[in-house]
Amino acid sequence: MKTNVVILAAGKGTRMYSKLPKVLHQIGGKPLLAHCLASCAALPLAKLVVVYGHQKELVQAAFAEHSNILWAAQDQQLGTGHALQQAYPLIADSGADNCLVLVGDAPLIQAHTLEHLLAVAGKDKLAILTVNAADPTGYGRIIKNADGTVRKITEHQDASAEERQITEINSGIMVIPMGFLATGLAQLTCDNAQQEYYLTDLIALANRAGIQVVSDCIDDINEVAGINNKQQLAALERVWQQRQVQQLLQSGVTVLDPARLDVRGQLRCGADVTLDINCIFTGEVELGDNVHIGAGCVIHNSRIAANTVVKPYCVIDSAEIGEACDIGPYARLRPGTVLAAGAKVGNFVETKNAAIGSHSKVNHLSYIGDAKIGAGVNIGAGTITCNYDGVNKSTTLIEDGAFIGSNTCLVAPVAVGKDATIGAGSVITKDAPASELSIARSRQQSRKWQRPTKKG
Ligand code: UD1
Ligand code: CA
Repeated sequence: MKTNVVILAAGKGTRMYSKLPKVLHQIGGKPLLAHCLASCAALPLAKLVVVYGHQKELVQAAFAEHSNILWAAQDQQLGTGHALQQAYPLIADSGADNCLVLVGDAPLIQAHTLEHLLAVAGKDKLAILTVNAADPTGYGRIIKNADGTVRKITEHQDASAEERQITEINSGIMVIPMGFLATGLAQLTCDNAQQEYYLTDLIALANRAGIQVVSDCIDDINEVAGINNKQQLAALERVWQQRQVQQLLQSGVTVLDPARLDVRGQLRCGADVTLDINCIFTGEVELGDNVHIGAGCVIHNSRIAANTVVKPYCVIDSAEIGEACDIGPYARLRPGTVLAAGAKVGNFVETKNAAIGSHSKVNHLSYIGDAKIGAGVNIGAGTITCNYDGVNKSTTLIEDGAFIGSNTCLVAPVAVGKDATIGAGSVITKDAPASELSIARSRQQSRKWQRPTKKG
């Protein structure tokens, strides 16, 4: 049984006070609309339509990879029913049995909830996803028949005092049989308090057409909570983060404070991983068994292999880190950093496009950019690879076992041979031969000398 999906996303989002269309605001590092799309990605889809209203180019560009989306314009927002009318021509001939309507600004809806709603609807029922709201103000109320089926939905503005006592509310998400949709949509009017074409009027019309209307009531109101302002965006961001962290805890990750972790993307963890407080993971991050991440680390699109320890306050972006490495505190690993097993990168070290061999150490205050460093190399404090001449980037090559004295400048392109030693404070502009000591600094001089004394 296939289903069409129509996502209503034409609302302007006036109360976000933003130039960005509402559905492009983010939860967990992903646009609201992307969450909706993810929730229905595994359904047996026929046609997928997004009804948009504002900044078409921006919205479409953000979802350019989703080639299966059909876009329906709603130039004037005349109501949810009017929005679905704009989508209808695109799904009319799909051959699907029903149409699932989603709202683009309710990002926390879960796939299994939609599957359940579709199962409740079957082939020929209209099924509404509902929830009991502690404060139902503003929502459409579910009015039932004596047998428990739904008779109609009354919008808050149109509801009587008695109807307003009802706490079961319309989430805005429903499944409508295709056989009824065209006739239903054609009968909508805007004869109501908001002078809009209400999608919810389809319920009474379906009853009249002899279609059974049922409700599927869920427990968690967050799943259907819509976002209209930044307060709601922030609140649902916390809910989303709690979901992420609960999944991590369930899978055995030690999270020292579940309230102080943000995952804005995908975090995959091996066994016995520990995450200290205030870490942020963005994009795709993979942590191997027994990896420990210290407080305050920000890690983006990186892989960190087993037994590595990242001490507090490191920023790691697009890096590949081997097993049993020791990083930080206060290290910055920029894109293209590759650490082999057992490498150490200490405090106030910046690396970029740099491969550091196994058991090599860059322990303090260094910049290592565009460099290839072998195994067992020791880079002294304050070493700089001078990789940029103002126009071009050049590479520094350091072979296995080399020892670079503190405060050395390696002016690239330059190579340091195997087991070479560089004297502290050197400015190395020529290749340093293997196994030799190279020193490139002014000689120390000492002489007898009288300090000046104060005159007058
Ligand atoms: C709607 C329902 C209400 C329900 C509530 C749940 C109607 C008439 N009312 O209320 O019963 O309790 O959702 O949040 O359906 N949209 C368009 N075009 C429009 C109007 C809206 O695309 O012309 C989209 C919005 O972008 C949004 C969704 O439809 O994603 C819901 O619109 P919104 O205005 O938030 O819903 P309400 O009218 O408050
Ligand atoms: Ca409205």
